[in-house]
Amino acid sequence: MSAKRYARRVTLASRPVGLPTVDNFLIEPFVVNSPLSGQVLVKVTHFSLDPYMRGRMDDAASYAAPVKLGHIMEAGAVGRVEESASDGIEVGDWVYGRMGWTEAAVVDASLIQKIPASIEPKSLCLGALGMPGFTGWWGLTQHGRPKAGETLVVGAVTGPVGSMVVQLARRLGLKTIGIAGSDEKCALAVDKFGVDHCLNHKLFESANEMQSAIKTLAPKGVDIYFENVGGKLFEAVVPEMNDFGRMIVCGMVSWYNEGAMGADARTDSMSVANLWRMILIKKLSVNGFIISDHWSQLSKFVDDVEPLVASGEIKYIEDVVMGIENAPSAFIGLLQGHNFGKLVVKV
Ligand SMILES: NC(=O)c1ccc[n+]([C@@H]2O[C@H](COP(=O)([O-])OP(=O)(O)OC[C@H]3O[C@@H](n4cnc5c(N)ncnc54)[C@H](OP(=O)(O)O)[C@@H]3O)[C@@H](O)[C@H]2O)c1
Repeated sequence: MSAKRYARRVTLASRPVGLPTVDNFLIEPFVVNSPLSGQVLVKVTHFSLDPYMRGRMDDAASYAAPVKLGHIMEAGAVGRVEESASDGIEVGDWVYGRMGWTEAAVVDASLIQKIPASIEPKSLCLGALGMPGFTGWWGLTQHGRPKAGETLVVGAVTGPVGSMVVQLARRLGLKTIGIAGSDEKCALAVDKFGVDHCLNHKLFESANEMQSAIKTLAPKGVDIYFENVGGKLFEAVVPEMNDFGRMIVCGMVSWYNEGAMGADARTDSMSVANLWRMILIKKLSVNGFIISDHWSQLSKFVDDVEPLVASGEIKYIEDVVMGIENAPSAFIGLLQGHNFGKLVVKV
C-alpha cells in the first residue's frame, strides 16, 4: 500500500467582525487522494487573494454564498496537473480553476481550463489576464462608453482592476486621474501605468478636501467614475460628475470591513437623498456588475488584451507572497492597502 500524501489548505475558522485577524483562518493538512475517473490532481503553484473574499467570510446575503465555517477559503488558482484520470488533460498541463487557498486539489476536469502556452508567467491568469483584468476591461468597455478627451477617475489604481482601467482608458485618449494609498503607489501609477495625475487618499482628511483636489485636476468635470473603493473618494467624486456621466460600480473595498459587506456602510456627508438627486439632475448612468455573469466573454478579452500584455503595451505588477502559511496575513494586508499590485500566493 502506498504512503498517504498530504498538502495544506486554509479554511475559515471563524467569522470576522471588522478587519479579519489571522485567528479567523486555520492552516491544516489534508490527505491528497488520487483522482477518480474524470478528475485530475493539480499541484497548485499560485492562488489569488482578492478583496471579494472578505464578503465571503460574512454570513450575509450577497451575489454568492458565504464560505461555510470549516470549509476551504475560495480562490482562483493555477497549477500543473500531476495525475490525470481525464481524457482531455495530460500530466504536465498548466490549468486554471477555482481550487481555493490550497497547495493541491483533486478536481473534476470540467471545472478547470487549460492555460495556453503563450501565457507567461502562468500567474497572469489570476491578474492582468484573469478575473481582475477582465473586470476592468468589461466594466470600462461595456458600461463606461469612453470617448477621447473625457476624464476618468478610479481608486485602487495600482491594483489589477484599476491599472487595467487606466491603461485602457489612456489608449482610448481619456485623461485619467488615479487614487492610491501612498506617494510611492502614486509614483508607480504615473511612471508605470501612465496616469495623468494621482492623488494619495491618505493625505486628505475629508471628502471635501479631496473634492477640491479633483476639481483642480479636472476643471471640466469627471465623465467616468470607475468605483472600486467607496468611502471618501465616492463622496468627493459624485458632485464633480458631468451631465450624462457614467458611474461604474465595481467594488467598494473601503466598506468591506463594515458589517455585512456594505449593509451598514455609511457615508459621512452623502445622504441617499443627495446621491439620488445628483443622479437625477446630472442625468448619470449607474451600472453595477459582477464579472462572473460574463465569463462567456472572457476569451474575447484575452484575444484583445493578451497581445498588449505580451508586447508590454499594457503593464502589470505582481505582489508575490511566498508560502501558504503567509496567506492570511497577506489577505488582511490587502484590505488595508499593503499590497503593491496583484496579490498572489506562491505555494
Ligand atoms: N464587480 C466585480 O465583479 C469585481 C471583480 C473584481 C474586483 N472587484 C472590485 O474591484 C476593486 C479592486 O479590486 P483589485 O483586485 O484591483 O484590488 P487591489 O487594488 O489589489 O486591492 C485592494 C486595494 O484597495 C485599496 N483600499 C483598501 N482599503 C481601502 C480603504 N479603506 N480606502 C481606500 N482604498 C482602500 C488599497 O489600495 P490603495 O492603497 O491604493 O488605497 C488596496 O491595495 C475591489 O473593490 C474589488 O472588490 C469587483
